[in-house]
Amino acid sequence: MNCCVLQGSPRKDGNTEQLLNSFLAEWIVCGNTYKKIWLYEKQILPCIACRKCQQDWSVFGCQQRDDMQYIFDTILACDLILLATPIYSWYCTPPMKAMLDRLVYGMNKYYGERKGPALWEGKYLALLTTCGYPPGKGADLWTQGMQRYCKHSKLVFQGILAEHDHGYQSTFMTEEKALHARQFARFLSGKAERSK
Ligand SMILES: Cc1cc2nc3c(=O)[nH]c(=O)nc-3n(C[C@H](O)[C@H](O)[C@H](O)COP(=O)(O)O)c2cc1C
Repeated sequence: MNCCVLQGSPRKDGNTEQLLNSFLAEWIVCGNTYKKIWLYEKQILPCIACRKCQQDWSVFGCQQRDDMQYIFDTILACDLILLATPIYSWYCTPPMKAMLDRLVYGMNKYYGERKGPALWEGKYLALLTTCGYPPGKGADLWTQGMQRYCKHSKLVFQGILAEHDHGYQSTFMTEEKALHARQFARFLSGKAERSK
């Protein structure tokens, strides 16, 4: 299975990246491949609701010239979309939110004169996140929002791995977190049931 990893953390060696590294090591062991895109390194302009993307149902069709065409193409070529992000103000980070807005219009041709297709229909989507609150209070709204986003977009929501950051004075990664990341990778590979 080919995974498109959209990394939304601004910190190259941060908590989310450390958790992701454990996930990806197991993902590869399970015989899969991935392509990672650092969203803070890309230019992702906000959607301006011009609806030009609704004119041609066969392409992304966005008039803005930035890195979103590349991201769109990479997503269309993958089986699994993995959104990796720290929680910022109970949701994802700004470049990921801008990307999600551009995709919800560019991929879903629902907003013209007639209702068209969802170009990414049937793709799997999963979340990997870290947060300062316990996940039930830090990542709950992000989870709910993305479940609804997937239903709307005809994506197949595959679940979330969320881990708690206990603060700047503590070491984020533990053996338990690494184990959860490996289990999540195996679950998404379809090779093992998730035990968490
Ligand atoms: C600007 C900012 C906003 C944050 N907002 C939240 C929040 O709403 N809820 C939460 O649980 N944690 C919040 N956090 C904590 C981060 O999600 C947490 O420290 C995370 O592990 C950081 O991941 P990183 O090292 O990949 O950047 C916030 C952190 C920052 C810097």
